[in-house]
Amino acid sequence: MILLDGKGLSDKIQRDISRECETLGLKPGLAVILVGDDAPSRAYVNMKERACQRVGFASRKYELAQSCTQGELLDLIAELNADFEIHGILVQLPLPKHIDTSVVLESIVPHKDVDGFHPYNVGRLNTNLDGFVPATPLGVMSLLEAYEISVRGRDVVIVGASNIVGRPLATLMLNAGASVSVCHILTKDVGEYTRRADIVCVGVGKANLITESMIKPGAIVVDIGINRLDSGALVGDVDFENVSKKALAITPVPGGVGPMTIASLLQNTLKAAKQIQGVAQ
Ligand code: GUN
Repeated sequence: MILLDGKGLSDKIQRDISRECETLGLKPGLAVILVGDDAPSRAYVNMKERACQRVGFASRKYELAQSCTQGELLDLIAELNADFEIHGILVQLPLPKHIDTSVVLESIVPHKDVDGFHPYNVGRLNTNLDGFVPATPLGVMSLLEAYEISVRGRDVVIVGASNIVGRPLATLMLNAGASVSVCHILTKDVGEYTRRADIVCVGVGKANLITESMIKPGAIVVDIGINRLDSGALVGDVDFENVSKKALAITPVPGGVGPMTIASLLQNTLKAAKQIQGVAQ
């Protein structure tokens, strides 16, 4: 069984980014906006900020109260859209219920949309054109590529159909030549799909959702879930202990897709800075 080491690859990508910025004399700037006091969101934002500092990016964190208005958030984004030191803008999701997420995401100028959530970038991904691709699915593709696991002509099943992970991952896989099925909350029998798959990707936030009996021997298993058990342990959506005995390759949690998300966000921010500064890609 091959353990797909996202942590090791993410560290390498971060070293490469750091070196490239030094060579180019470039200081990419990322603005991260956190609204409210959701504890996991705060932890993710802090990780993103620390990663920026590690690679030498300028990082600015904006914390808005849970009670802030949509107008206040839009005003901040308008300022950042026009800020020459900022090349990437990220609004941590989910947002409080009184704020319209679509309006907020569409207010970010597409060339600073390093999360790839603006419909402009979603449309470019769907038509297989260059643009910003959401960090988690991009990280999954980079991890598979680093291990020379080709998805071309393979049967891929994605469990979870969110705008952040499942849908963009399905599109990336399709663009790379895979035959893709997407399972979601209304899927009658997820196992019927996963048992036939060469590659299973799952990210729904449900511990032990994918068991050994749902996987074909020799399959590739990508676990995008993160769940905190009552014991305090961090686990994915896959029963790692048993599935890993049957899979050809599998990502651990932690240390798999999570660190790749951070690496991809930094790559997207570097790409935005290079585009804005007119550096050849
Ligand atoms: N919430 C969960 N994942 C993400 C992500 O990749 N980006 C943002 N902005 N919010 C998230």
